[in-house]
Amino acid sequence: MESTITSVRDLAAHAGCEVTLLGWVSQLRSSGKIAFLGLRDGTGTVQVVMARNEVDGASWDAIADLSYESSVRVEGTVRQDDRAPSGYEITASAVEVIGPSNEYPIQPKEHGVDFLLNNRHLWLRHDRQTAIMRVRDEVVKAIRDFFYERDFVLVDSPILTGAIGESADALFSTEYFDLGTAYLAQTGQLYVEAAAAALGKVYCFGPTFRAEKSKTRRHLTEFWMVEPEVAWLDSEGNMQLQEDFISYVVGRALERRRDELEQLERDVTRLEAITPPFDRISYTDAVSVLKERGSAIEWGADLGAEDETVLTDGRDKPLFVYDYPREAKAFYMKENPDDPRTVKCNDLLAPEGYGEIIGGSQREDDYDRLLARIREEGLPEKVYDWYLDLRRYGTFPHSGFGLGLERTVGWICGVPHLRETIAFPRLMSRLTP
Ligand code: 4AD
Ligand code: MG
Repeated sequence: MESTITSVRDLAAHAGCEVTLLGWVSQLRSSGKIAFLGLRDGTGTVQVVMARNEVDGASWDAIADLSYESSVRVEGTVRQDDRAPSGYEITASAVEVIGPSNEYPIQPKEHGVDFLLNNRHLWLRHDRQTAIMRVRDEVVKAIRDFFYERDFVLVDSPILTGAIGESADALFSTEYFDLGTAYLAQTGQLYVEAAAAALGKVYCFGPTFRAEKSKTRRHLTEFWMVEPEVAWLDSEGNMQLQEDFISYVVGRALERRRDELEQLERDVTRLEAITPPFDRISYTDAVSVLKERGSAIEWGADLGAEDETVLTDGRDKPLFVYDYPREAKAFYMKENPDDPRTVKCNDLLAPEGYGEIIGGSQREDDYDRLLARIREEGLPEKVYDWYLDLRRYGTFPHSGFGLGLERTVGWICGVPHLRETIAFPRLMSRLTP
């Protein structure tokens, strides 16, 4: 009789029974009489024990052909074993090789990161990478749940755009039929601003593109960003939304992906400290603090990665830096009525040196000021005409922010380089696999 096909995750339900597992060989050890396989099936890994005198001849012969990442079908009995990481072990009665794997490139030894990235399509199978992908999956689900539970409406923004989002540099462009140049979206913000006037509370969540020539561990050329936009919300309310949001997402990762975080050796007590409220410091005060600590920063410049690390040093929670100088930030941010040299905005800096994970602001809702800023920045006025309409027809105070998914996953997982936080990273020097 055919035994039930099950998965490693569901073995508990089959203790003492005959089952069939389908998966890949992640570990291999054999003497003349007994062989041990690590069988990985995507839901977990279980040890399979095969004794020569308990399996048929074809199965024992099959073992001789096995190597790392061969795909196999294993039949056997599920035995409880408290020493096993999964709590169970399989005593095999039959093994069949489905797909051999000769000279699998990634071996249990140190490989350079370039080699691993060249083999990203295979590297993804390995424990650390699957743990990161599972945390990422949970973070994405938590993001969507947070907004759904609060009655935000998802509005997908276009990836091919005629308008420019953040700035005129760092754009990827492509020819677009008879219409000239199209740009890959740097942000969905301008579109969700339009949607906020239609639906009140909205968000978009998708890939964004930046042709930044930066080779840092914090930059990808293609990354995912979630961007909520809320009508009638001011900058202070925007920060409250951010601290609730971040706390919710981190809480969900702790609740549902604790095993993976522990597997990644993440100090989860650092994540357990993430609850609202977060500290706030104005940009101007931040510059004073930085100068006291020896930084060469001058008022007016954006904060660098090192400045961010200095500011968050010794803090348990993320830190809001608010009201930056307008020349350091994008054209659409609202002029600060209390100090017109600055704009009503904030960055949110993650602790432990992970840097900026959110950029947000209240938007300029005054038609004349917005147009003046577009001109000041030398942006093509014509493509912003529709965006200016939002200030011509029923302008309204509104705010929003953008959270970088990969930076957030990196921080939660304790993985400093973004290349491991997305399945197929796009970097300046990497387009394959
Ligand atoms: O601060 P940024 O540029 O803000 C915006 O794009 C706004 N339009 C958001 C909004 O208000 N709707 O980017 C937002 C976040 C950053 O804080 C960072 O987490 C991430 O996006 N980010 C990147 N992540 C990976 N690689 C890059 N090159 C990134 N650039 C920004
Ligand atoms: Mg930013």
